[in-house]
Amino acid sequence: MRIDVVTIFPELLEGPLGTSIIGRAVEGGLVEFGVHDIRIHGLGRHRSVDDYPYGGGAGMVMRPEPLFAAIQPLRTAGATVVLMDPAGERLTDQLARALAGSSHLALVCGRYEGVDERVRTLVDREVSIGDYVLTGGELPALVLIDTVVRLVPGVIAEASHEGDSFASGLLEYPQYTRPEVFEGLPVPPVLLSGHHGEVDRWRRREALRRTLERRPDLLDTADLSDADQATLAKLRRTSMADPPR
Ligand code: ADE
Repeated sequence: MRIDVVTIFPELLEGPLGTSIIGRAVEGGLVEFGVHDIRIHGLGRHRSVDDYPYGGGAGMVMRPEPLFAAIQPLRTAGATVVLMDPAGERLTDQLARALAGSSHLALVCGRYEGVDERVRTLVDREVSIGDYVLTGGELPALVLIDTVVRLVPGVIAEASHEGDSFASGLLEYPQYTRPEVFEGLPVPPVLLSGHHGEVDRWRRREALRRTLERRPDLLDTADLSDADQATLAKLRRTSMADPPR
């Protein structure tokens, strides 16, 4: 997979793209990044990339010429051009999986108060990472990259994302590692039992419990079996304050 990023702050991306799982994916040849500085296409002696909004108002708007010059060469067959924008479609696990199916993404990071509206004619989709406004699209682009790259085959063990929160439509079950007792808090005995069937049933129940308590809205669309529905009915009858067993 190739991911290009168009930005006026290439240095914001360097650390995260070279570190941890993403850095390893690059070293392993699974993902390739290109970071493109918009300012090299800036106008005049000051390489200006922004200007005052027509009609007046606060803030600056990114001019179309430098952005067009940076984006046009990336619009090749098979590329998906994405503008990071708070007005875009919301990034979800489902959208991340769809984008991970593309072999070439080009992410455009806006800055200031926004980009000239005509830039939208160059993009295939617009993505928001949530209902809050950041100072620019760089951190949202990194969020999108992180969630997409971990889904690229070979980057992490497939089994690690099958059980992800959201992949099955539910939040993830609680996880424990050593020691068996920490600060008086024991690991649930079933996890030490070696009974895989019981462990699986416990995990499913706790995923359902957590989702019911924290994100009941997810239950409307989750993939639930008859056994899950029975578990949920039982959980609803018992106190929601019960600690996991
Ligand atoms: N740029 C500024 N805020 C953003 C957001 N929430 N999502 C995507 N891009 C943005």
